Amino acid sequence: MACPIGNGACPAGGQSNGEAAGAEKGENYWTYLHLDKILSAQALKSGAAGAVVHDEHLFIIVHQAYELWFKQIIYEIDSVRQLFMTEKLNERRMLDIIKQTNRVVLILKLLVGQIEILETMTPLDFLDFRDHLSTASGFQSLQFRLLENKLGLKKECRVKTKSDYSAPYHDHPELMEQIRDSEEQPSLAALVERWLERTPGISAKGFNFWDRFQGAVKAMLNDELKAAQAVANEAQRKEEVEAVNRRSVLFDSIFDVKLHDALRARGERRWSHVAFQGALMISFYRMEPRFNQPYQLINLLMDIDELLIKWRNNHVQIVQRMIGSQQVGTGGSSGYQYLRATVSDRYKVFLDLFNLSTFLIPRQYVPPLSRAMQFRLSHSISMGTSEAHEFLCDAGRDDDSSSEEAESAPGPVS
Ligand code: HEM
Repeated sequence: MACPIGNGACPAGGQSNGEAAGAEKGENYWTYLHLDKILSAQALKSGAAGAVVHDEHLFIIVHQAYELWFKQIIYEIDSVRQLFMTEKLNERRMLDIIKQTNRVVLILKLLVGQIEILETMTPLDFLDFRDHLSTASGFQSLQFRLLENKLGLKKECRVKTKSDYSAPYHDHPELMEQIRDSEEQPSLAALVERWLERTPGISAKGFNFWDRFQGAVKAMLNDELKAAQAVANEAQRKEEVEAVNRRSVLFDSIFDVKLHDALRARGERRWSHVAFQGALMISFYRMEPRFNQPYQLINLLMDIDELLIKWRNNHVQIVQRMIGSQQVGTGGSSGYQYLRATVSDRYKVFLDLFNLSTFLIPRQYVPPLSRAMQFRLSHSISMGTSEAHEFLCDAGRDDDSSSEEAESAPGPVS
């Protein structure tokens, strides 16, 4: 089969019929992809002074493949961030956000598995060329840091190390600028937080989801307490009543804004109280057409966090396998011990989304939507109605302004 963008001049050995589309533009597979640069960038150190170590080739290729994929992830995340930065999100933009975020998830899935290829190398093979790495380490991966920062990993959540992760770049002003930008510009997590704060239905003047939710939780806890108090066995009764009280204290931590903010200051919660309300509301009413896509996005964001944790875990396993748990890394950290500490919730950027499940209540207690709210959420994004074009999270839009109008409007209200 002919190379789809070849013109017969492919020095990599690809045979082409010379009639392909790119021929007249003087472009071929080799030149279009700059394969001269990419395929000549594997400079094995082991060959320079002594025998070439066979596995060094794999080691370089695997790292380079990671860096290329990191580049693509950053490209997608930057695009999604840009879309969130615009004041209004319309339906087409939301589809792009979902598509690109999903792409990040799929790339990360690939990256999680890719490390296995490197596990075909034995520790002794690695030892044969490890000295050639000198101080080179993945710790210095600029793109990995950009990726973490752009997602929203905060400096204070990082495990402390002897030297700052940006240290290798202090003598490179243009790279330092990239790092500073990634730290200072709104991260994906910060932008999603702002977007969730605009969820329709959480305003106190409109549907007031939070007020209704508190009432529902109160009713649920009352029922649970009654059931616990009715238990015949005294010891069991005591235990069950205590369990209800503990649950009540847990819910206080989301109902009391001060408690929420205190947990936020300690890093146990990340988002504002209002954003948390938005995320919870989307979770409860995810079946409503206008919450379908936001709910999908929430799940994709959790996938990103989960896959990065899986990657960190796979990476720490290969590190222990290759250099054990007592050797320092070539980047100067404690090696295995440092990396193991990064496999933790403090590295989860979307931690609040994982914690939502703690506060889900059984379906029968979920506050029913008012007619107005049901109408507002019933417009499917794909319906193409004029309202659907103003996506549900338009800045400044709130349910109170449209509830009266929606209440009287004809709609698919059951
Ligand atoms: C033989 C395989 C590997 C070994 C022995 C190894 C070893 C290490 C060690 C010891 C560290 C801690 C920093 C330090 O050097 O002091 C580290 C960090 C890191 N490595 Fe690797 N690594 C391996 C493969 C990879 C691969 C394939 C990648 C893919 C890009 C990678 C990316 C990273 C990154 C991004 C960090 C920083 C992690 C963080 O600070 O959270 N490593 N590695």
